[in-house]
Amino acid sequence: MDRFILFGMGETSLITRFEPRRPFQGDLEGPGRAVRILGRALDRFTGLRAGGILAWIGRCPEGSGVSLSCPMIQLGVNIDHVATLRQARYRGNASAEALQEPDPVLAAHEAELGGADIITVHLREDRRHIQDRDLDLLARTVRAKLNLEMAATDEMVGIAIAHKVHMVTLVPEGRQEVTTEGGLNVKGQAARMKEVVSRLRDAGITVSAFIDADATQIEAARNAGFQMCELHTGPYARAFAECGGDMLRPRLNAELEAVAMAGAQIAASGMRFNAGHALNYFNVVRIAALPGISELHIGHAIVSRAVFTGLREAVREMKELIVRAHRR
Ligand code: PXP
Repeated sequence: MDRFILFGMGETSLITRFEPRRPFQGDLEGPGRAVRILGRALDRFTGLRAGGILAWIGRCPEGSGVSLSCPMIQLGVNIDHVATLRQARYRGNASAEALQEPDPVLAAHEAELGGADIITVHLREDRRHIQDRDLDLLARTVRAKLNLEMAATDEMVGIAIAHKVHMVTLVPEGRQEVTTEGGLNVKGQAARMKEVVSRLRDAGITVSAFIDADATQIEAARNAGFQMCELHTGPYARAFAECGGDMLRPRLNAELEAVAMAGAQIAASGMRFNAGHALNYFNVVRIAALPGISELHIGHAIVSRAVFTGLREAVREMKELIVRAHRR
């Protein structure tokens, strides 16, 4: 049965027709759900807040942000941009390996300490930023989920399987582009997609398609066996910037609604609804609030912010070092 969901928009509101939600494939769905059902039953029969006690025992206190029964939205941090900075200085200079910084492997661990649920790297065919050495080390050291963005080539499928990454996001790859520019055309290469997805899934890897908010692409992704779709939020982000985040502007409202509708279709098709690209500290809130959203994949904005949140301290440390050494 269809139902209507009202999205609070501050100045205005957007009513979107919404398909019923399928359960998430959240890793913690099973045990958490059981704990909550038992807790509710106890509440009903005893009139006490026994459910709360059970939840505490189950380490899933309501309102704490840590719930086993209600899968949390997850943050995937894309660390390619750290490698881009390293390569800008050291590309083709293998002899200076010991000097090469910043190291994306260290960035991954900083991101994990900050709460990243997923570490994402895009091993491009031209190796313009992330290198094979990075993926080797990340596969051995990342404790969160490791997501490999890649083109659907035989070489990349072999690399993903050899490194036993947790998750692959298939993206289109253009040599000339600075970053991924559009969604994958799953519909236009259905047989190839089915084959690649099946090889990855057989190796125990969860597979996501990075696609535009397009009903026919979602349908094609489901038919190809993808378990997740990441919606391309670039058009929404562009509209947000151009409209100054004003949700009364029809263009911005329409782009958000397109993501919401596509997300609902993804969830209703039994896939996980993810989103990413060009999300930043201003435009992310509306996307994170969409019903059924599971993962957000963000890179550039986080690395850009890190320059400013970290630069002052980095300068302070260097200044202290040189002043002390000079005094001796
Ligand atoms: N998701 C996908 C599939 C991408 O290709 C990228 C860019 O590498 C991102 C998310 C992150 O985009 P941004 O760097 O703009 O946050």
